[in-house]
Amino acid sequence: MTESGSADLKRRHRAMWALGDYSSIATEVIPGLGRRLVEVCRIGPGQRVLDVAAGSGNAAIPAAEAGANVVASDLTPELFEAGRRIAAERGVDLQWQEADAEALPFSDAEFDAVISCVGVMFAPFHQAAADELVRVAKPGGTIGLINWTPSGFIGQMFATMKPFAPPPPPGAQPPPLWGDEAHVRSLLGDRVTDLELRRENAAIDRFADAAEFRDFFKTYYGPTVAVYKAIAGQSDKIAQLDRALAELAAEHDLGDGRMEWEYLLVTGRRAG
Ligand SMILES: C[S@@+](CC[C@H](N)C(=O)[O-])C[C@H]1O[C@@H](n2cnc3c(N)ncnc32)[C@H](O)[C@@H]1O
Repeated sequence: MTESGSADLKRRHRAMWALGDYSSIATEVIPGLGRRLVEVCRIGPGQRVLDVAAGSGNAAIPAAEAGANVVASDLTPELFEAGRRIAAERGVDLQWQEADAEALPFSDAEFDAVISCVGVMFAPFHQAAADELVRVAKPGGTIGLINWTPSGFIGQMFATMKPFAPPPPPGAQPPPLWGDEAHVRSLLGDRVTDLELRRENAAIDRFADAAEFRDFFKTYYGPTVAVYKAIAGQSDKIAQLDRALAELAAEHDLGDGRMEWEYLLVTGRRAG
């Protein structure tokens, strides 16, 4: 991809994540995921931690609460306003920095831990992003990721939206591939030791029923808002997507609207 093509793609991705209000998803739907990542990575006082694709700080803020010195980085600085407000409410201070996961503006071996909660998976060129995660971690430093799996609920939600979305740019890889064990092993290779890959489920209890899930995502989740924007005015397609998203959520309903969303928890250490 040319430099200007790449810059244009980043601009479009940034605009997409700034749609809706992503911080509502992080704080109301999946707040436990950031805490889980911080706990499993044993983040603690004195560590210098980078959260990649941090959004409004779902993992970065708990990392700061654990006593670490944290940089929250993201392609979409529009999300930092909510992050700063939440951090202030919780009495912690961290640094917020605009950064593309595929070209991080940090030195080699700068961080004791590099984490990303359902974040780096959305950078379109997976190997470039994986290389950057490894580069900025100290030798022996922790790399910890939470990635939605292709077969889990959010992976299936992206598959459901795909026929309604504009085609992805050439070479861009689908985000849920980061939830596939073999893909992650091949991205990190032997540069990461003690690699552990575990499938877990996020317990979701925010929605009373499938329609409430769909309407919440349609209002607040950038990628879903963007797909509906792409079919604006096409009432047949809107009705089809409305139905398909509600059906998917109903299939995953465990009763009373509760759901489990599968993710891959990745932990390891930078070799060397
Ligand atoms: C689902 S949100 C996750 C945010 C946060 N980590 C959380 O757990 O709530 C995905 C994030 O990835 C960011 N993102 C997408 N592409 C990116 C890229 N190339 N570099 C850095 N961040 C990116 C988006 O701006 C968005 O904040």
